Amino acid sequence: MQRAIEIMHDRQRAMTSTLLALRTIARKSLKASTPPDFAQLRRLFRYVERFPQKLHQPAEEKHLFPVLLRRDPGADRAVKRARRDHATCLGYLDRLHAALAYWEQGDPKAGPQVALLADDYMRFARLHARIEARDVLSAALTALSGQDWRAIEQAFGGVDYPLAQSKSRADCAAALHAMDGR
Ligand SMILES: [Fe+2]
Repeated sequence: MQRAIEIMHDRQRAMTSTLLALRTIARKSLKASTPPDFAQLRRLFRYVERFPQKLHQPAEEKHLFPVLLRRDPGADRAVKRARRDHATCLGYLDRLHAALAYWEQGDPKAGPQVALLADDYMRFARLHARIEARDVLSAALTALSGQDWRAIEQAFGGVDYPLAQSKSRADCAAALHAMDGR
């Protein structure tokens, strides 16, 4: 498999795992009727915002989609859908941000909203990854040259994603804490 695709899979996995962790903390807190660890919720949210949303998805749009469209104009529909999915993800991000802020300010209705939004967002991100792999990456594997892939890999690999290499819960916790000062 192309290294660039492995990088994408690692980052998409880290995104869904982070949203899953966020959902789990929210659900546990609601079930126990105790406030959640807001600092940890903020850390998880910040990771999703800073890495998958503000860096990785824009990097796909900048470095992968244009070269695919040049090599295979027939991939246009798949690329348009992927771009729409990225915009939908940003909508989830904004709504989750607002719901988290309301919850932390004490709005009791916001907790269930956070749990629901984290669940919807996670499922959507997972579906997006599946459809992107099926329609965009499969076309790219056929159409792109080795040189194209090396350029994409270089562009993707230039950023260190804290959770993409984490193999355990302890790795993830350490990586998230390390982000606090950054
Ligand atoms: Fe994507």
